[in-house]
Amino acid sequence: MQRHLITSAIPYINGIKHLGNLVGSQLPADLYARYQRARGNEVLFLCATDEHGTPAELAAAKAGKPVAEYCAEMHKIQAEIAKGFRLSFDHFGRSSSPQNHALTQHFAGRLADADLIREVTEKQVYSNADGRFLPDRYIEGTCPNCGYDKARGDQCENCTKQLDPTDLIEPRSAVSGSTDLEVRETKHLYLRQSALKDDLNAWIDSKTDWPLLTTSIAKKWLHDGDGLQDRGITRDLDWGIPVRRGDADWPGMEGKVFYVWFDAPIEYIACAGEWSDAHGGADWERWWRTDKGADDVRYTQFMGKDNVPFHTLSFPATILGSGEPWKMVDHLKSFNYLNYDGGQFSTSQGRGVFMDQALEILPADYWRWWLLSNCPETSDSEFTWELFQQGVNKDLADVLGNFVSRVTKFCRSKFGEIVPKGGVYGDREETLIAELDARLTRYARMMDAMEVRKSAQELRAIWVAGNEYLQAAAPWATIKEDPETAAMQIRLGLNLISFYATLSAPFIPDAAQKMNTALQIEKAQWPSNASDALDSLPAGQSFAVPENLFAKISDEDRKDWQDRFAGGRA
Ligand code: MF3
Ligand code: ZN
Repeated sequence: MQRHLITSAIPYINGIKHLGNLVGSQLPADLYARYQRARGNEVLFLCATDEHGTPAELAAAKAGKPVAEYCAEMHKIQAEIAKGFRLSFDHFGRSSSPQNHALTQHFAGRLADADLIREVTEKQVYSNADGRFLPDRYIEGTCPNCGYDKARGDQCENCTKQLDPTDLIEPRSAVSGSTDLEVRETKHLYLRQSALKDDLNAWIDSKTDWPLLTTSIAKKWLHDGDGLQDRGITRDLDWGIPVRRGDADWPGMEGKVFYVWFDAPIEYIACAGEWSDAHGGADWERWWRTDKGADDVRYTQFMGKDNVPFHTLSFPATILGSGEPWKMVDHLKSFNYLNYDGGQFSTSQGRGVFMDQALEILPADYWRWWLLSNCPETSDSEFTWELFQQGVNKDLADVLGNFVSRVTKFCRSKFGEIVPKGGVYGDREETLIAELDARLTRYARMMDAMEVRKSAQELRAIWVAGNEYLQAAAPWATIKEDPETAAMQIRLGLNLISFYATLSAPFIPDAAQKMNTALQIEKAQWPSNASDALDSLPAGQSFAVPENLFAKISDEDRKDWQDRFAGGRA
């Protein structure tokens, strides 16, 4: 038995995620976790909300709520929607957890002890009325370039010019509107990543099986320009993890917090502690400490391509710099972007389909199948309502759903709701089994390699093979002359449904469950070969015709949704 630690990039707390976010990390991570469990391996699958930083503060302010309250509510909502999509996290934690506070402060202390942290004095805008430093995006004023009067300190939204807060004409605080601002000196901690450059380089070079998308991004940041820069890991904010050196105060750092990108990946580890606390003190260190049993764990991370530098450089720098035997990532699976109808999904503009809206329209399996089978793996990919309709109707309704329905209904009408016995296999059956054997091997190989689209293609081909068999064998014709053979064909068909349920479960868990329930299968076993698997339902066992697994998307529905989502989300 293998042991798999699997994490998905942890989604920002500031709102409900769109389908582009979902398909770039959480959904493929779930596919892999479900697959590994189905193979009988031990899995710890973790995710959490990423709760600190200015976006969280701003979203809370917009909602008119204290930020801690906002985050607690939004965490619940995200957890609920994750359940709706059947994301099978062993724990869905929070980067604001006490566990992460302690662990983040611990790492900072270790890094300081290793002389990997230096203090830097910087100039930053301070608001006297608000009694706080203002991050760039908290400062508003008139754009010197286009005259737009709500330009932000980091960028003008109107003309897109990148700005410094001091460029703004009549700058004011976005928090209170006050113009009583001044530039003050403030001290920050920098992680000396440059000192770890050789270690990081050697580590990345050892990852010969990583996808090019991953290593090329890492190498670019390691070697381009000035190479790996030291990085500020503290901020002048209220909301976040207070800067401490392990258990001790950090003189001069009072009132400051760690930068969100410092504490967020540490939550991958802290989340295992949260999981343990929620599960009667289960041993989490055997997943994370190589001195405590994690040396045989295979650790896989899933994320969008914009997250790659943080996972290949910054977080590994934190871990390597600590000098402690933490488990490091073995495989890093990254994704391109899913676009929406000729443009980008956008949270700030409410453009696209958001996770809650998707579930209001259709059950999780429809989305899971389409998103995974069209995921932006080797290049960006595109969601359009037409493509979605086509994929669902063809693969799920016409091929899989139709097969299940024809086999079970035909059996009920001719033999009753009981697996018939029938005669022995002929050439057609042997040919099918040989094809399915080859495809089963390939499917497992693609799933092991996290080749998501190729896995989906193979699964679809496995469904199609059954359909073509049924069409050619035509038990509805056979039965007129040769009921024995027709019974054999239908027994094979019922066995195929069980085969499909097991293989499809990582993609479409609800439909798989329905198939298994109909066939009275309690615990599905991953098939070692097609021939045994297709001989597993004993003749005489009863079953029930399931309800239609998938409904087709009509042209009216499609048009309706197209219109409804054209305007964007309020
Ligand atoms: N919240 C980030 C995003 O959605 C991902 C954080 S991943 C972690 O892009 F490594 F920092 F945890
Ligand atoms: Zn402008």
